[in-house]
Amino acid sequence: MEFTWVSRLIRVADLNHHGTLFAGETAKWMVEACFIAAAKKNKRTDNVVCVNIQGLQFKRPIENGDVVDIESFVAHVGTTSITVVGRIHCSRYEDQAILETAVTFVTVDDKGKPTPHHIAMERPEDPGLQAYWDRFESYKKSR
Ligand SMILES: CC(C)(COP(=O)(O)OP(=O)(O)OC[C@H]1O[C@@H](n2cnc3c(N)ncnc32)[C@H](O)[C@@H]1OP(=O)(O)O)[C@@H](O)C(=O)NCCC(=O)NCCS
Repeated sequence: MEFTWVSRLIRVADLNHHGTLFAGETAKWMVEACFIAAAKKNKRTDNVVCVNIQGLQFKRPIENGDVVDIESFVAHVGTTSITVVGRIHCSRYEDQAILETAVTFVTVDDKGKPTPHHIAMERPEDPGLQAYWDRFESYKKSR
C-alpha cells in the first residue's frame, strides 16, 4: 500500500470569520491530496475526474500557525473507479486523524465517458484496509 503525504502551514488567508481553518479550504486540499494518490496509481493525471466526496466531517478546529499533514491512499479500485481515503492529522491533536473522507475518481476517455483504467489491485490482506475495500464495494453495489 502506497501512502502519499502532503503538509501545509495554516496561514491567515486560510481562516474563516471565526479564526479557524475554513472548511472550503480543507475540502479543496483534501480532494487535491486524494487526486494525487489516484493519479499516481493511474500513472496519469489528464483522464481522472472526481465523482464523489464522502463523509467530510469537521470534528476539531484547526488554527492559525498549525501544521497539518494530509495522508491519502488508494483503498479500492473498480473497472473505471478509484476510491482514495484521505485523512488530516494535526500535531495539536497528538497526530490522531481529525478528519477522514473518501473521494472517488473515474477515468474517462476524450469524450468524458468512463473508460477502464486497467489498474491491478487485489482486496488487501490487512484487516483494516479490507474493511475499507469491503465498504466501498458495498457502496458501489448499493448505488
Ligand atoms: C464521472 C462520470 C464520467 C461518471 O459517469 P457515469 O455515467 O455516472 O458513470 P457510471 O455510472 O458508468 O459509473 C462509472 C464508475 O463510477 C462509479 N461511480 C459513479 N458514480 C459514483 C458515485 N456517486 N460514488 C461512487 N462511485 C461512483 C461507478 O460505480 C463505476 O465504477 P466502476 O467502473 O469501477 O464499476 C460523470 O458522472 C461525470 O462526468 N461527472 C462530472 C465529473 C466532474 O466534472 N468532476 C469535477 C471535476 S474533476
